[in-house]
Amino acid sequence: MTYDELRRAYIEFFRARWHAEIPSASLVPQNDPTTLFTGSGMQPLVPYLLGKSHPAGTRLVNSQKCFRAEDIDEVGDNRHTTFFEMLGNWSLGDYFKKEQLPWFFEFLTDVVGLDPRKLYVTAFIGNEQRGVPRDIESAEIWRELFAAKGIDADVVEIGSESDGYRLGMRGGRIFYYNARKNWWSRAGAPENMPAGEPGGPDSEVFYDFGTSHDAKYGAQCHPNCDCGRFLEIGNSVFMQYIKKEDGSFALLPKQNVDFGGGLERIAAAEQENPDVFATEPLQDIVALLAKFARKSYDDGRYTRSFRIIADHVRAATFMIADGVTPSNTEQGYVLRRLLRRAALHASSLGLGDKDADDSALVRSAIITIEQYKGAYPELSGEEAYQRIRGEIWQEEVQFAKTLQKGMREFEKIAGEGSISGEAAFTLFSTYGFPFEMTKELARERGLDVDEEAFRENMRAHSERSRAGSEQKFKGGLADRSDDTIRLHTAHHLLLKALQIVLGTHVKQRGSNITGERLRIDFSHGEKMTDEQKREVEHIVNEKILEGLPVVRTEMPKSEAERLGAESEFGAKYPERVSVYSIGPLESAFSIEFCGGPHVQNTRELGKSGVFRIQKEEAVSAGVRRIKASLVRA
Ligand code: ALA
Repeated sequence: MTYDELRRAYIEFFRARWHAEIPSASLVPQNDPTTLFTGSGMQPLVPYLLGKSHPAGTRLVNSQKCFRAEDIDEVGDNRHTTFFEMLGNWSLGDYFKKEQLPWFFEFLTDVVGLDPRKLYVTAFIGNEQRGVPRDIESAEIWRELFAAKGIDADVVEIGSESDGYRLGMRGGRIFYYNARKNWWSRAGAPENMPAGEPGGPDSEVFYDFGTSHDAKYGAQCHPNCDCGRFLEIGNSVFMQYIKKEDGSFALLPKQNVDFGGGLERIAAAEQENPDVFATEPLQDIVALLAKFARKSYDDGRYTRSFRIIADHVRAATFMIADGVTPSNTEQGYVLRRLLRRAALHASSLGLGDKDADDSALVRSAIITIEQYKGAYPELSGEEAYQRIRGEIWQEEVQFAKTLQKGMREFEKIAGEGSISGEAAFTLFSTYGFPFEMTKELARERGLDVDEEAFRENMRAHSERSRAGSEQKFKGGLADRSDDTIRLHTAHHLLLKALQIVLGTHVKQRGSNITGERLRIDFSHGEKMTDEQKREVEHIVNEKILEGLPVVRTEMPKSEAERLGAESEFGAKYPERVSVYSIGPLESAFSIEFCGGPHVQNTRELGKSGVFRIQKEEAVSAGVRRIKASLVRA
């Protein structure tokens, strides 16, 4: 089956079971400041998994474009890609385990035609401390499904991954693993989830390619072993829980199913070939590269480079189609890294690039466009074509210049016999040489790189730039996400509430706001009592509930002073100033000199939760600090 056939078959299978097909969301998440890229099909659906009703109904299906930057370094083996399509179906409080597991099994065995004897499954072993029981139900459903195919499926208890390497298969078909393997949330295992995050136990299906175990990974093979014999081809997450402030779990208002399965991986299982790069359309990119490089993909010296180029260009093509352009920050930086790394591997395959039409990267992008534009219309049309071609070629040209300079510098450093962390950092910061490239070049020459020292340099560097950006934003805002903006407005409410409760001597002495919390430093001589803190919280929450408009007005500085607008201690203001009032200007609850941004109405703060003071402490004599946030009740 080609990707198009497989994608269509999956979507039709679930449409026939009353699922509405929804389009893939952009690779760049909208209104989600927690992550740079959409990395799973459920991400755009979080509000609905939390209980909001979805306009298309309670049964949804799609194929979602996904990108996982954390896998960049893994690309090169036969199964890791940064970009992939995730087939997904969801029940928003509709069906549950006894529909989901049989449907997926039916799809795999009867539609795709996989041999059920090659399928192995896992379920959650349970965690009493957190009040989440063992998933006996899933194990039982799986046992019956296999029995219907004439397969006796034994249930085996494993526990952790390392238990798996010790215990091995033990003749099992259904395996219980702990939360590291059989629990899913955007943040991973239960202990990593922030309060308010949904998650739940899951049940995974693995395809057995029957290759022999590689003891390098552990003594014995088991479904979650990394040796490559087993490939995970689908994950049914039972999104039932939400993490509470105290670390325990409560049931969500609805019991949801969040299923995700990698299209490329199911295609690999269907072909009984563990190499996802041997499935179409990745294979077409590889074939094109092989033709122009006059090298064989099967030649072990080049396989890795072929895979990296194919994966990275495909990902870059989709990113550019979604509006990302190469730059030095955020999504743009990841795109730049992909293209530069692909360019480096293209040159190591001896692929020429005198002009755009000759570029291996541009040619690979064109194949990607041709292969995917039917399913992803954002890739079609002349405008998208020119933009993708232009961005890739421009980056190649720029990189070639950087590379020349960087290579000269690298040669100098390499002459010294090993690469210090400092030198690697200079290559990165001054010559734009990504660290992975330094590592790769060093590896080719058998040189050591002091990775730890490099990371230390990077940490110091990012701390310096963070301090810089704190100064840059007068308001002390770390970013411009919704959560940060809400906390900025909460900050104004808080200052006024402190003046009401503690007295008019309270003046702001510093502030810093991120999406998670606000911090205010203010003049006050003693520790606040619990009662004072509660009173302050109460006033702020009252103003949130009152739904006061937040209004920006420009006026002469003298006028703002006459109105009693709060100014930051020691700050210098121009003659004309911007002032934010909460409540109408004439009868405002709070007025401050401020450049914004703010929400339009205090009611919006309620979307993030209720206002809570998390900490109150001394900073210096006469100055106190509060950290506070908006939390879900
Ligand atoms: N959200 C689940 C995953 O990404 C299905 O594996």
